Amino acid sequence: MQYFRIQAAEAASPLWHQIATLHIAAIKGGILERIGVRALARLYRVLAASHDNVLIVAQERDKVVGFVSGCLDVGAVIKKLMLSPVFMLLIVASPGFWQSLGMALKALAYPQNVSKVEVGISHTMPELFSIAVRQEWRGHKIGTRLVEELEQWFRAKNIATYRVSTDASDVRANAFYQKTGGIFVASLRHHAMRLNTYHKLVP
Ligand SMILES: CC(C)(COP(=O)(O)OP(=O)(O)OC[C@H]1O[C@@H](n2cnc3c(N)ncnc32)[C@H](O)[C@@H]1OP(=O)(O)O)[C@@H](O)C(=O)NCCC(=O)NCCS
Repeated sequence: MQYFRIQAAEAASPLWHQIATLHIAAIKGGILERIGVRALARLYRVLAASHDNVLIVAQERDKVVGFVSGCLDVGAVIKKLMLSPVFMLLIVASPGFWQSLGMALKALAYPQNVSKVEVGISHTMPELFSIAVRQEWRGHKIGTRLVEELEQWFRAKNIATYRVSTDASDVRANAFYQKTGGIFVASLRHHAMRLNTYHKLVP
């Protein structure tokens, strides 16, 4: 298994498609699973192009087995995407987006609408944005290793603490964040979902 950081300029196109497909298959409940593979692939490409974000993949030969993404400021990524005509065209062309318009509009306000109730916590806090491992590879510490790689990147950026939020009803994801050292801080409503927020000290 190889773990490496990918950047928009250098990554071949099948990689973006694989990352988006894995995201849609693995991460349920949010607006991102409804915007379509092409828009989501674009999102990861935009994210990886900035030095304020990181996208790390676990790859076995040419197959993406898992990935993690992290941002210094998720709100800045969302704003950048809103200003991208290609991204906007791709999401309006996706039927899933229109079927979930209410959810989509609220998602645009993330993370402000979640963090404003987290007393004393800035919404610009660095964040683990997404993580997924292919079903058949789960339970082999690939997720743990991806988190370690992300934390190495945070450390190089002098980040001491970051945040991660996940569906409160997802037993596996909550167990994973607790096992990897996340400290539970709040359970908050975000559109139809209840999100558990954890803070993690960068070792
Ligand atoms: C969450 C996820 C990334 C974990 O990846 P993974 O490679 O399977 O995780 P690891 O093997 O590193 O597991 C580390 C620890 O997490 C916990 N954990 C992982 N899967 C678990 C499960 N199904 N049930 C309970 N605890 C679990 C365990 O404590 C495990 O440690 P242990 O094996 O010593 O008991 C993976 O299950 C996944 O892709 N899930 C779907 C996507 C998702 O929910 N992402 C998070 C929300 S954005």
